[in-house]
Amino acid sequence: MSRKLIPGRLVAATHNKGKVVELKDLFEPIGFQVISAGELNLEEAEETELTFEGNALIKARAAAQATGAPALSDDSGLEVTALGGMPGVHTAIWAGEPRDFYRAMEKVERELQAIDAKDRSARFVSCLAVAWPDGHEVTFRGEVEGTLTWPPRGEMGFGYDPVFVPTGFDVTFAELEPAQKHAMSHRAAAFEKLKAALL
Ligand code: IMP
Repeated sequence: MSRKLIPGRLVAATHNKGKVVELKDLFEPIGFQVISAGELNLEEAEETELTFEGNALIKARAAAQATGAPALSDDSGLEVTALGGMPGVHTAIWAGEPRDFYRAMEKVERELQAIDAKDRSARFVSCLAVAWPDGHEVTFRGEVEGTLTWPPRGEMGFGYDPVFVPTGFDVTFAELEPAQKHAMSHRAAAFEKLKAALL
């Protein structure tokens, strides 16, 4: 039988406050106590892989080893079709240091305009990884399709939410109530797979 995740303390291996909020919203109603890497003063692991799965595993593994408890991580990003899937795993880095997501959204828009792109389709991808201290690990991928709009709209959410209009909607992720976004996001899609396999 495959390994199950027992409700209890779960380390969220991320320093991204927006992700922590979304992971808490997903896992706390089903009995987990989510503690973030930031709250535990864990170091941020370097993301050296070229896939979402690989980077999610680096983060979950490091947190599980550091805490001795099962750890959950999310590696996610925005894949823009006309840019050959960029920024993809480099989505966070496009915001520079200190992180400025307006600058990152502007860079995507500039690159689309530079190639006069007619295709503005894009998808958010989330890969959730769970790692146990004994080395067992699993990953789950979720995606949500949409189109990019310019200029950015909306004050809610985080990251690239203000330029992403999910398919079937005419508002951006940043204009949706958090509960609406959380019910349909790439992270929610990965979470449904995780629930089916681990709970
Ligand atoms: P990483 O997973 O830490 O490498 O960072 C992924 C980056 O993708 C985040 O910093 C955000 O900019 C972006 N991202 C991931 N999920 C979302 C989302 O739900 N909304 C907006 N931006 C997101």
